[in-house]
Amino acid sequence: RRPLVLDSDPGLDDAAALHYLLARPEWELLAYTAVGGNVPVDLTFRNARALAAAFGIDHDVPVYRGAGRPISRVPIGGDFHGASGLGSAELPDSAVPEQQSLAPLELLRLSHVYENELTVVATGPLTNIAAALILDPEFARRVAHLVFMGGAALVPGNITSVAEFNIWADPDAADLVVASGIPYTMVGLDVTHHAPLTADDVAKIDAAGTDHARLTAALLRDYLNAYLTFTGRDHGFLHDPLAIGVASDESFAEVRTGCVVVGTDLGLHRGQTVFIPDDAAQTPFLTEATRARTAVKGNVAVAPGRSLFPAD
Ligand code: BDR
Ligand code: CA
Repeated sequence: RRPLVLDSDPGLDDAAALHYLLARPEWELLAYTAVGGNVPVDLTFRNARALAAAFGIDHDVPVYRGAGRPISRVPIGGDFHGASGLGSAELPDSAVPEQQSLAPLELLRLSHVYENELTVVATGPLTNIAAALILDPEFARRVAHLVFMGGAALVPGNITSVAEFNIWADPDAADLVVASGIPYTMVGLDVTHHAPLTADDVAKIDAAGTDHARLTAALLRDYLNAYLTFTGRDHGFLHDPLAIGVASDESFAEVRTGCVVVGTDLGLHRGQTVFIPDDAAQTPFLTEATRARTAVKGNVAVAPGRSLFPAD
């Protein structure tokens, strides 16, 4: 099995991503790290511990608290995932004592132990990953693959007209990460908006009948209600589970190579992920500074691939 750290801001679809990850045989989950995002880090840390307990992994997989605030902006968040971050669920806390170490420090430690082997999947703002890179830029060279849910390469945003939530929540962190040389795949709205979640899908998960499936179904029911309340849609999107899918198997998306630059100024472009595919990087119209950035390559999921719900 391949070593993996899940960095997350649970979060209803983050919880579904954890469930999906645990169901996949190829991963060994080494640590579950919490970052502020959907709700502040005190709550995402609490939720991560409670989810680890509910999914029966809290004695084997340590949960670490992460960054207490974004790099340069005030924490955002909102009501979408409910006041606690996990909708109406009332999960008991884990009985395992809290870890004293912090998420970026554990990411660094594990990147040494599993040098060139470690996959990191991030389903929240990229603050913990950026913090690890600030402490030790060589982290970028020791990680085998970072897959993050965030951004919108060729499509509109979901929190402003150009910005996706996870990037908008900490644009400086995101820009630092994509400029660091870490081998990454960005799984943004270009693909997650093609991964719908309907009431029928939730019923199918529920019908699996295990405690874990029932919990995930209950969380996803709240998630669907949030979509209805906040956007008027009768379906949601499986943003965070798709990042696990793409980390496992690239056929879950069509991926292109190029460079991503994140809008970090305070204007209209804040949080935008501008994607310059390799062929466009040849044009004579790029400024010198942008051309320098095109040397730092990444992978960007630009179109949907295989479905998370195989036809039955
Ligand atoms: C992202 O924002 C969060 O609300 C979800 O958990 C997901 O990570 C989608 O834009
Ligand atoms: Ca998330």
